[in-house]
Amino acid sequence: MRVLTEPSAMREWRRVRGGSVGFVPTMGYLHAGHLSLVEAARSQNATTVVSIFVNPTQFGPNEDYTRYPRDEVRDLALLKEAGVDAVYLPSVGDMYPEGHQTSVVVSEVTRRLEGAARPGHFNGVTTVVTKLFNAVEADRAYFGRKDAQQLRVIQRMVRDLDMAVEIVPCAIVREPDGLAMSSRNVYLAPEQRAAAPIISRTLFAARDRFSEGLRDPDALRRFVRGEISRSPLAEIEYVSVADNDSLQELEAQVTGQALLSVVIRFGKTRLLDNVELG
Ligand SMILES: Nc1ncnc2c1ncn2[C@@H]1O[C@H](COP(=O)(O)OP(=O)(O)OP(=O)(O)O)[C@@H](O)[C@H]1O
Ligand SMILES: [Mg+2]
Repeated sequence: MRVLTEPSAMREWRRVRGGSVGFVPTMGYLHAGHLSLVEAARSQNATTVVSIFVNPTQFGPNEDYTRYPRDEVRDLALLKEAGVDAVYLPSVGDMYPEGHQTSVVVSEVTRRLEGAARPGHFNGVTTVVTKLFNAVEADRAYFGRKDAQQLRVIQRMVRDLDMAVEIVPCAIVREPDGLAMSSRNVYLAPEQRAAAPIISRTLFAARDRFSEGLRDPDALRRFVRGEISRSPLAEIEYVSVADNDSLQELEAQVTGQALLSVVIRFGKTRLLDNVELG
């Protein structure tokens, strides 16, 4: 397994590879969710590349950039074990040299939900993903549905800018008790971790209600809020029932596909989860 740390070295290595390249961008501190993306990439491509880069520009000034969990040695061992061909590990200095001033902005689908809660977040994401795409020149790139809005933002960017990469969405991987895997789960205190499965339980219950015919988005949102507020440790940041593509909040009956997504805070830790309806 090759480890490449500079954009030019990454691109040169990639250009001498024959066959398709599958790419999995991550911020490291890997878990089974990341490894499922790696597995999908491996099954569909001759070469698999994973990047690990904790991107400072997608964190707000009062967010957790400096304390974001990192374990490079463990991550590299997991990726080698998983059969990855190359890991791209750029430094912050190489990604953002003195004087950098260019960014990629997706204007509409970034407005609400995570974009509203974290101003500037998606501009950081789209810019860094563009840079990673330019270095890796992948044929396919793999993104988790856990970050549902991010997935839609990236799909929009790729379409709008004619990027030569196919975006492959991948299912949410969960702990046995239902909690969506996330590097940030490590922040949870034991009693918070024990309470956290209320999120997925509630989303699945709401999906059952939907299957039984409940189509009123407000009733669905009320149901989710009611269930989550039973946990004294859980704080609701948002509950959204939105059009599954545009992520416009739905007011009238759900007719097509919808995305039910939530952010629930346990202390300072924000947990994202979602289910698709219909
Ligand atoms: N539980 C999961 N199932 C499937 N894909 C996931 C899961 N968690 C993360 N991913 C995907 O892995 C990729 C890299 O995500 P990232 O490195 O930010 O991990 P993370 O667990 O989301 O960390 P954090 O919650 O701290 O942002 C993204 O495409 C993300 O959607
Ligand atoms: Mg993430």
